[in-house]
Amino acid sequence: MCTRPNRTISREGRGYHFRVTERARKPLSRKLSAIAESATLKVDAKAKALKAQGKPVISYAAGEPDFATPPFIVDAAAEALHDPKNFRYSPAAGLPELRQAIAAKTLRDSGLGVDPAQVVVTNGGKQAVYQAFQAVVNPGDEVLLPAPYWTTYPEAIALADGTPVEVFAGADQDYKVTVEQLEAARTARTTALVFVSPSNPTGSVYTRDETRAIGQWALEHGIWVITDEIYQNLVYDGVQAVSIVEAVPEVADQTILVNGVAKTYAMTGWRLGWMVGPRDAITLAANLQSHLSSNVNNIAQRAAVAALNGPQDEAEGFRQAFDRRRKLIVAELSKIDGMTVPTPGARSTCTRTCGAARPAMGRADADDVARAGRPHPGRGRGGRGAGRGVRPERLPAPVVRAGRRPAARGRAAAAATLRVTDGMPRTGRRAVPERAERGQR
Ligand SMILES: Cc1ncc(COP(=O)(O)O)c(C=O)c1O
Repeated sequence: MCTRPNRTISREGRGYHFRVTERARKPLSRKLSAIAESATLKVDAKAKALKAQGKPVISYAAGEPDFATPPFIVDAAAEALHDPKNFRYSPAAGLPELRQAIAAKTLRDSGLGVDPAQVVVTNGGKQAVYQAFQAVVNPGDEVLLPAPYWTTYPEAIALADGTPVEVFAGADQDYKVTVEQLEAARTARTTALVFVSPSNPTGSVYTRDETRAIGQWALEHGIWVITDEIYQNLVYDGVQAVSIVEAVPEVADQTILVNGVAKTYAMTGWRLGWMVGPRDAITLAANLQSHLSSNVNNIAQRAAVAALNGPQDEAEGFRQAFDRRRKLIVAELSKIDGMTVPTPGARSTCTRTCGAARPAMGRADADDVARAGRPHPGRGRGGRGAGRGVRPERLPAPVVRAGRRPAARGRAAAAATLRVTDGMPRTGRRAVPERAERGQR
């Protein structure tokens, strides 16, 4: 250690305090200095702070279910807390039981049979995204990034010394890129494609044929596919999100699947995700993780085993609640004069805006959350046309307060109905039952 001791911790408050100085000091990392803070988390934190001050803010920032994690999952974690084996380091790539459960889930939902050794459990899907690019990108490589996109991707690509190359798909093409567009953007340096279906932020879901065409194109050119499937269970109106490895099985050899429990099971704060892929790529990622963060918290891993192996009806209840909100918010937003609301129909993911208007993406300033009565331009780091930001006050009252009005008539009654029929637990304040009682359930 060559760091000088921090002498600020003197009881009298005396001593040296760190100061930002350029004096006689080498510059900070250029790579990290170029990375922007997560705009989503920044706006989300701002919204939560305003809420804490009693301001009427509904945050459309983070894709965060507002339900409590299902009790049987919480119970599994509570039980794990009492088992000393969870107090120790465990394998960096994940608990064997969880890797097994993830392999089973991957077969169930993505149609890909994998060995548990092809799974790395990560601190949320976000770490899996980071590690996936680290595993396949070399300095100067280009990564094709369909836009609008989730703000983390370009930064994670840059952290791997790659260059994100945006491929824009607007409303006229249902926010889905075509093979022709990808081919036009491909160069000799193209190493990987980011494929997200259902997409955040657009909610678009590629059809089986579209997915197959893109998978075959990637296969033909030996291009890696980083497919983020974190929203795969949040689809509506009978639509199925077909995994690219199901549509084109051979592309699995050059695909890394990213997923996690955050959205489906209302577990954003537990920080549990994973990556699945070919052994060589997964070994690189696991080695990286063994130096970076080691194993994910064992308690969260035990909870994830319960989530994946347990009954899925509560997760299905969440999905249905999102669907009701989706329909309500689209219907209400459509009533605003001059506002175009793409009908998300069967395509919308709905943990965030239910497929309707959303605040500007990307580098939108967190203060936008607090700005009064002005729509955002809708252009940010998330690419062109990421959305037209609308402050809650500009939305019809039922949408603004969806499910929160104590009394309502007419249009507002729809919102009240939402609240009543939603019936979802939000506080999670629930006594953990005694062991015996838990055993009986
Ligand atoms: C598309 C997408 N992928 C991955 C993540 C990461 O989720 P987490 O790190 O919470 O598991 C998010 C979170 O918002 C997301 O929107």
